[in-house]
Amino acid sequence: MKLSIIGAGYVGLVTGASLAELGHDVIIMDIDRARIEKLDKGIIPIYEPGLDRLINKNSESISFTTKMDEVIREADIHFICVWTPPLKDGSADLSAVRAVARDLGKAFAKRKIKTPIIVTKSTVPVGTGKAIRQIVRKEYKNDFSVVSNPEFLREGQAVADMMHPDRIIVGSNDEESAKTVASLYQDLRAPIIITDIATAEMIKYAANAFLATKISFINEVANVCDLVGADVESVAEGIGMDKRIGKSFLKAGMGYGGSCFPKDVRALQQFANHNGYDFKLLKSVIEVNEQQRQMVVEKLINNLVTLKNKNIFILGLAFKAHTDDVRESGAIDLIIRIQKQGAKIRAHDPLALLNARRDLDDEIKFVAQPYQGAQGADAIVIATEWPEFRDLDWSVIKKQMRNPLIIDGRNLLDPRQMRSHGFIYEGVGRR
Ligand code: NAD
Ligand code: UGA
Repeated sequence: MKLSIIGAGYVGLVTGASLAELGHDVIIMDIDRARIEKLDKGIIPIYEPGLDRLINKNSESISFTTKMDEVIREADIHFICVWTPPLKDGSADLSAVRAVARDLGKAFAKRKIKTPIIVTKSTVPVGTGKAIRQIVRKEYKNDFSVVSNPEFLREGQAVADMMHPDRIIVGSNDEESAKTVASLYQDLRAPIIITDIATAEMIKYAANAFLATKISFINEVANVCDLVGADVESVAEGIGMDKRIGKSFLKAGMGYGGSCFPKDVRALQQFANHNGYDFKLLKSVIEVNEQQRQMVVEKLINNLVTLKNKNIFILGLAFKAHTDDVRESGAIDLIIRIQKQGAKIRAHDPLALLNARRDLDDEIKFVAQPYQGAQGADAIVIATEWPEFRDLDWSVIKKQMRNPLIIDGRNLLDPRQMRSHGFIYEGVGRR
């Protein structure tokens, strides 16, 4: 089938490449001209393992454009994959989604095509499908369908998630269109759940909010472990083996970040509130998440008495490992908090240095080598769970530091090993 992808970000590019891999012809559109020019030259503007290979492999069936008219000429099913960032009140900014709906409506009206389908993959609050229908209807009087097909991929493993999903959700008020969209994925052999649009939109928020709740829950358990001398890693293992609980998303640390959990938890809370419901649990989830970052600052102060003029080396800037994305990264938030205490910061990340530089001020010294950053440091904070940090020569690092303190905000390192090197080691909820 001929499909268009509108928005060439993480979700758009991975969706486009994966649908091409499944045998469809795909045109990918974005308003960012520079981004499309890069893609035309074969340069992938984001870091996502396996994405360049998938796009190159399917280059015959993928094209790029900045023009909506071209999109409508080439495709009958249109996936909206544009951003939905948070507004100040926590609600999702739908201006890009609305703009795309309006442009699609206008372009449909010029060509009068047979029943086009608009599929929303962007994360949008309940009611957006209905709003899209109204916007398009103003421009285009013939038949068209709106389908919600939320995306559950994770950055850093997006291609694998897209090609091996746990489930596919298709929400529509029109059975025929739901079946057509579901059929695009049939070769993935994943369970497909067909619902109405509002339910599909809600499933996406409920999934992200539940995962964020799991993280805040284990973080609170970790905080109690710190006080009573229990070990949260073993507690997580012990509860996770109960199939009803499950092992994943029980890694305690300095809280969740990224472009989705923080924004989606706030948006669900906001639209619940807007509809007259006070989602109390989510308030606590957010509060605990903030507290986890502050706790790292307090652990530093407890050990160093003051942070004024202390050299703190931050290992990790990305919001999680295997990505260069620093949007709502806990590491960036932590750096700002530590800077306010008067500390001097050095920072290293295997992939995210360039992106972090844009978000932080010139006072911070970014180092390309971890060993450089350790020179004369009063403390090291592990802020992203990059596995390669485990393999550093910690005995060399210890010799370079002024004071051998490690605060492991991601419970990445082995406490026993670190202590045997002579470090003062503190994780989150670890004995
Ligand atoms: P992104 O910021 O990486 O990309 C968004 C793209 O949309 C940009 O390239 C931008 O130029 C383009 N765009 C904006 N307005 C446009 C317009 N009017 N017309 C055409 N293109 C336009 O965003 P993303 O991370 O891919 O997320 C997209 C959506 O998917 C969001 O709603 C997000 O919540 C959701 N989502 C993201 C992930 C993830 O892991 N990143 C996973 C699941 C769902
Ligand atoms: C998350 C969801 O996992 C995806 O299913 C969803 O599609 C996506 O949001 C989205 O809607 O955009 P992502 O943000 O890429 O994916 O990353 P995750 O792997 O979920 O991690 C999010 C944050 O939680 C990271 O900061 C990570 O360090 C933290 N985390 C994760 C923990 O602190 N503990 C854990 O056990 C797991």
